[in-house]
Amino acid sequence: MSSQSTSNQKSPVKSGERVIFIVTTIFIILAVIAFGGMEYVRHHSAKPMFSITTNYQFSPEAKRGMDLFFRKGSCTDCHRALNSGTNMGPGTDLDGEGTKRGMAWIYNFLRRPEQTYNGQTLDHGPGKAAAFVSDWKAKDLHAIAAFLTALQAKSGSSVSPVPPSERSPFVDSMVKKFAPESWKTGKYKDMRDDSRVSRKSDQPQEKQ
Ligand code: HEC
Repeated sequence: MSSQSTSNQKSPVKSGERVIFIVTTIFIILAVIAFGGMEYVRHHSAKPMFSITTNYQFSPEAKRGMDLFFRKGSCTDCHRALNSGTNMGPGTDLDGEGTKRGMAWIYNFLRRPEQTYNGQTLDHGPGKAAAFVSDWKAKDLHAIAAFLTALQAKSGSSVSPVPPSERSPFVDSMVKKFAPESWKTGKYKDMRDDSRVSRKSDQPQEKQ
């Protein structure tokens, strides 16, 4: 009994603990090295980490709207467009806004948010944090609406109602293998084949 307690005092760390300690230390060192490596690659790569899933073509008015959006208003405190600004969740990422909403809707929203939403808004209604927007000059709101209308989602991006136009061999093989019979026998239509779906914002990608 007493001899064991002296040997414990000599080596307070049990060998199992030592192994855990060494493994943890190695893991942390490797994690730091891996993180450093990835950061190095990210900084030295010309390719953006997240590709912009928006097509845009700006008229002179839309360009002015972009300027107002990014400089005058504090829109980017709460909103994101062209992958920059803040994304506070649903409704605040405005990339692809022009695919969801039309010019008139956006203008009306900026002017009379709650009537246009037909309900309560979080931030745009009277007395709320973004209430100032509705007091802007018609010309400025129009320019912002033109800017936001020009932000068209590429199909397949999370804000696009249009599925990707490219065929994916992987998806096709999965459908062949796992999809219910009714999918394969043509009871349902593959949306990617649907010619009624507008793909005006897409570059043609299919070679046939
Ligand atoms: C304090 C945060 C905040 C600020 C500042 C702000 N917004 Fe918003 N905005 C929101 C939120 C949150 C929503 C979602 C609707 C709601 O509940 O208010 C929204 C919705 C919108 C929508 C409608 C999106 C849709 O399709 O439903 C537009 C357009 C818009 N904002 C434009 C702007 C512009 C332009 C500015 C700057 C002049 C601006 N916002 C400033 C928070 C903000």
